[in-house]
Amino acid sequence: MTLAYEAYLQEILIDEATLKKRVIELGQQVSEEYADVSKLLLICILKGGVMFLTDLMRYITVPHEIDFLAVSSYGRGIRASSGNVRIDMDLSIQIQDYHVLIVEDIIDSGHTLRFVMDVLLARKPASLHLCTLLNKASRRTVDIPVDYVGFEIEDKFVFGYGLDLDEKFRNLPFIGVVNADAL
Ligand code: IMP
Ligand code: MG
Repeated sequence: MTLAYEAYLQEILIDEATLKKRVIELGQQVSEEYADVSKLLLICILKGGVMFLTDLMRYITVPHEIDFLAVSSYGRGIRASSGNVRIDMDLSIQIQDYHVLIVEDIIDSGHTLRFVMDVLLARKPASLHLCTLLNKASRRTVDIPVDYVGFEIEDKFVFGYGLDLDEKFRNLPFIGVVNADAL
């Protein structure tokens, strides 16, 4: 049987085992660097960061809380965001006193994260750092300080493991490259 995503998949870029190994490493690194912090808050950027967050937090051994921030950028297709980013769903708690770690799926142009970081910095957290599963550094138009990166990837549109293709296929356990002919 041909599965629905297969028509859109050019190749698997990062398979499930490779993702798991790297997520474990990131969890260990975060646990070491936040070992002495009493209030750690992971902020998952919805929707793309959700699978990464739920896997990453299993490997973070220091006590922490989680919260969610949904943002979208008006008018984005499969290319980078325009910079018109807005909050669709805000956090449920005040973040003063928290050491905040943003958990994001991918940084492309950087517009989304610049917006998110500016919004969060204005709320004066104890600290603010950034963990992204994927980084397309070659596409950056806005400078973003990234503290933890899962994988540096080339300028290809990818989906799966939280990342969508027209809102679908976020459930795939791997990161795949889109077959441009199928779009
Ligand atoms: P930026 O604002 O251009 O950095 O775009 C960041 C957002 O665009 C990410 O949070 C993703 O939601 C989305 N995005 C960027 N590149 C991809 C991709 O290759 N696949 C799926 N979503 C992407
Ligand atoms: Mg995202």
